[in-house]
Amino acid sequence: MESLRFQKLSCSRVRKLSLLLLLCFCSEIWCRGPEDLEQNPAIQRFRTYLRIPTVQPDVDYEEAVEFLLGQAKQIGLSTRRIEFVSKKPILLMTWKGSSEEKLQSVMLNSHMDVVPVEKDKWKYPPFEAHMDENGDIFARGSQDMKVVGMMYLEAIRILKGKGWAPVRDVHVVWVPDEEIGGDDGWGKFYTSREFDELNVGIVLDEGDDSLFNNSYFVNYGEKATWWLVIQAIGVTGHGSIYFDNSASENMFKSIASINAFRDSQKALVRSGEKSPEEVVVVNSVFLKSGSPTPDGFTMNVQPSVVEAGFDLRIPPSKEMADFMNKRIAEEWAPKGRNMSFYFTFKTETKEGAVPTTTPDDSNPWWYLLRMAASKLNATLIPRLQTGGTDSSFVRIRGVDAFGISAIQNVPPLYHDHNEFMNGYEFLRGINMTVEIVDQYGSFSGSLHRVM
Ligand SMILES: *[C@@H]1O[C@H](CO)[C@@H](O)[C@H](O)[C@H]1NC(C)=O
Ligand SMILES: *[C@@H]1O[C@H](CO)[C@@H](O)[C@H](O)[C@H]1NC(C)=O
Ligand SMILES: *[C@@H]1O[C@H](CO)[C@@H](O)[C@H](O)[C@H]1NC(C)=O
Ligand SMILES: *[C@@H]1O[C@H](CO)[C@@H](O)[C@H](O)[C@H]1NC(C)=O
Ligand SMILES: [Zn+2]
Repeated sequence: MESLRFQKLSCSRVRKLSLLLLLCFCSEIWCRGPEDLEQNPAIQRFRTYLRIPTVQPDVDYEEAVEFLLGQAKQIGLSTRRIEFVSKKPILLMTWKGSSEEKLQSVMLNSHMDVVPVEKDKWKYPPFEAHMDENGDIFARGSQDMKVVGMMYLEAIRILKGKGWAPVRDVHVVWVPDEEIGGDDGWGKFYTSREFDELNVGIVLDEGDDSLFNNSYFVNYGEKATWWLVIQAIGVTGHGSIYFDNSASENMFKSIASINAFRDSQKALVRSGEKSPEEVVVVNSVFLKSGSPTPDGFTMNVQPSVVEAGFDLRIPPSKEMADFMNKRIAEEWAPKGRNMSFYFTFKTETKEGAVPTTTPDDSNPWWYLLRMAASKLNATLIPRLQTGGTDSSFVRIRGVDAFGISAIQNVPPLYHDHNEFMNGYEFLRGINMTVEIVDQYGSFSGSLHRVM
C-alpha cells in the first residue's frame, strides 16, 4: 500500500513543494501539470480553446468565434466574419504585409470543429483539457486540429512581440465543418469572390504528427474520394426458381470482381510492395435490397433491385482516375449486365485528377518550408494524405497547399479516445511555426524562382 501511495504522489508540484507532500493527493482533481506549463500563458490560451466544445454534429461556433476574436484583438490582427451559410461562420484574421506590390498572400488554415466523443472511454473529461504530470493535455481537438490553429496565433504573437512584420499579407482562417466534409465551410469559400480577393499563394493546413524528433510530415496531396453506388436490376419472381440474370446474381458478379481487385490492392500493401497511399482502397459501406416486413424481410421473393455502396480512395493521378473509371464501367457495373452506377461524391477536376502541390525545391513554398525546418535542424518528409482535408478544395482551386501539423514525438490520436497533446511539444511546434511564418512572410521574390 505504501508504495502505491508513493506512486500516486508523484506530481511535479509535489516534487517542488515537498513540505506540502501531505496536502497533495494526486487525484484527478489535485494532480496538475508541471508548474512551468501551468503558468505558461500560451498553454493557458490553448487549454481555454480546447474547453470550448465545438463538437459535431450541429456545432454552435459562437463561443469559439468570440474567443478567437478576443485573441485577434489582443494580438492586433484585423478580423472579418464571412458567413456563406447561416451559423457556419468563417473567421478571417489578417496581418497586412508591408509591400506595395501585389504579392500573393499566405493563409494559415484550421477548422474549429471536432469529432464526437465517447465520454466513458476517456481517462479525463474530453472538454476539460486536463494536464497530467508529463504535461500531456487531454482533450478532443488537442491534435485535430485546435493545436495547429493555436500554434499559428502564438507564433504571430511572438513575431509581433519581436517587432517583426511580413512583407506579404498573412491570413489566419478559422473554418467550420471540416469534420463533416466542409460543404458549408471551404466548400463555399474556395470558389468565392472573398477568397479570390485575398490573392492566396499558399495555404497551410493540418497534417500528421511525427512520432520522431527532428522531422515533420508534409502532406502535398490527397487521394481522391469517390463514393460509388452501383445498382443491379433483374428478373423478379418466386424464391423457389432459378432465373437467369436476377438482380442479386448480377450484383454478386460485381461484388466478386470488386473483391478480387480489393484483395490484390490489399496484398500489395501487406507485402510491403506499395505504401497505403499508393494503392486504391475500396471498402463496402452498404448493401440494400429486399422487401421489408414489420419483422424482417419477405423471404420467398427475389428482389428486382439490389444496390451496393463503396467508399473508394484513389491515388491522385489522371492515369489512376482513367483506369478506375474504365474498370467501374466495364467490370463493376457493366450496362450489359443491366447495371448502372453513380457517385454521391467525387473529388476531381475537369482534367480528371485531383491536383497535388509540388513537394520539391522547384516550388518556392516548399523550399521556404524546408528552410524553416532546417532552422530547427528538422527535415521534411513529403507524403500523400490517406484521409481527406480542406486542402483538397484549395488544390482543386489551383492554389498550393501543404498539410503540416508541427507536432513531433506524440502518438497520432486523431479521432481516437484520450486524444492528447504534450505541452512541451506544443511549445516546440510554436517555434517551428515562428520559423515558417518568418520564411513565408519575409519572402518577396518571384514565385517562379527555381532554387
Ligand atoms: C525525442 O526526444 C526526447 C527528448 O530528448 C526523447 O525523450 C525521445 O525518446 C525522443 N524520441 C524519439 C522517437 O527518438
Ligand atoms: C437485362 O434486362 C433485359 C430486360 O429486362 C433482359 O431481357 C436481359 O436478359 C437482362 N440481361 C442481363 C444480363 O441481366
Ligand atoms: C542545430 O544544429 C547546429 C549544428 O549542430 C547547432 O549549432 C544548433 O544549435 C542546432 N539548433 C537547434 C535549434 O537545435
Ligand atoms: C522555443 O524558442 C525559444 C526562443 O528561441 C527557446 O527559448 C525555447 O527553448 C524553445 N522552446 C522549445 C520547446 O523548443
Ligand atoms: Zn482535422
